[in-house]
Amino acid sequence: MKVLVTGGAGYIGSHTSLCLLEAGHEVVVIDSLVNSQLESLHRVQQLSGRNIDFHRVDLLDAPAVEAVVAGAGLDAVIHFAGLKAVGESVEKPLMYYQNNIVGTLNLLHAMDREGVRTLVFSSSATVYGASEEVPLTEKAPLDATNPYGRTKEQIEDILSDLSSADSRWSIALLRYFNPVGAHESGLIGEDPRGVPNNLLPFVAQVAVGRREKVLVYGNDYPTPDGTGVRDYIHVMDLAAGHLAALDFLKSTAGTFRWNLGTGRGSSVLEVIQAFSQAAGCAIPFDFAARRPGDAALSYADPSSALADLGWSALRDLARMCQDHWRWQRDNPFGYGEPN
Ligand code: UD1
Repeated sequence: MKVLVTGGAGYIGSHTSLCLLEAGHEVVVIDSLVNSQLESLHRVQQLSGRNIDFHRVDLLDAPAVEAVVAGAGLDAVIHFAGLKAVGESVEKPLMYYQNNIVGTLNLLHAMDREGVRTLVFSSSATVYGASEEVPLTEKAPLDATNPYGRTKEQIEDILSDLSSADSRWSIALLRYFNPVGAHESGLIGEDPRGVPNNLLPFVAQVAVGRREKVLVYGNDYPTPDGTGVRDYIHVMDLAAGHLAALDFLKSTAGTFRWNLGTGRGSSVLEVIQAFSQAAGCAIPFDFAARRPGDAALSYADPSSALADLGWSALRDLARMCQDHWRWQRDNPFGYGEPN
């Protein structure tokens, strides 16, 4: 298949592009590089020994998107491109709605005109809001609590309306839990700009000496050790989930929703402990106040993905930390210079 990957230079996009190439697919990438680096794709090409057809295009530039899609002979699209920082989305909601929603509409128009109607969309478990009902099935009520999460929820609605109106569309909405880890080579991984918002990249930067200590947000949650529990999933397992979804969509029309998680929750303290073991060093931490908007517990019921796609996550927390550490250790400043 020939697959267009939007946001293909980003964290999950680069790992998924690698898996696509390794499975023999052709990959075209659109990325604005506002939040990613082209070096990631150079390394994907190095690892796979294959070329990527790269276009530096912002999805807000409708004619440029159209120009990439028209006549390209695409079979499917995997759509990762979007802004994703929760705090920034609260401060700049218009930027988030404009970028994520309008960008997606531009992509969909270009696909529809070209008759490319197979799409895997990068959604998030954040659409479930702070529900305490775990494990979360795909039937859990949607209740995103910030503009970033609402863009994911609204795009899910747009896509569902689209396939209801036109039965030629085949769409997968993949709701990721907490993606972590890196390719086992240590050549590609997550490279957040500035201070990381998410736990694993922060812990990794403490381990490599870039930051002094981790702040653990809350130790009075109703969880076994009082710290927040999440379903961390290895990015290579996540990437494999996209290939399984593409395969499913080849023969089935409609919109489908799948949780991509391991089904197991780990607390913040368990993550720090596992990372410390992987890195072979102590990870200093302090307890701090709860972070507003955080749920106590969030983990997936991933049984639908297993039943429908034959997919399940294979790598455990120790492996996630080992691979994440190898990437961080070998690339202490990610793909670029210190920031
Ligand atoms: C966050 C976003 C979610 C997004 C996801 C992407 C919020 C409220 N949610 O999820 O919308 O889809 O990232 O991966 O931002 N923690 C610390 N110290 C830190 C950082 C995090 O203790 O420095 C704790 C958090 O309180 C939480 C856990 O670690 O219990 C995981 O946090 P994080 O990695 O930010 O992920 P989520 O909050 O689950």
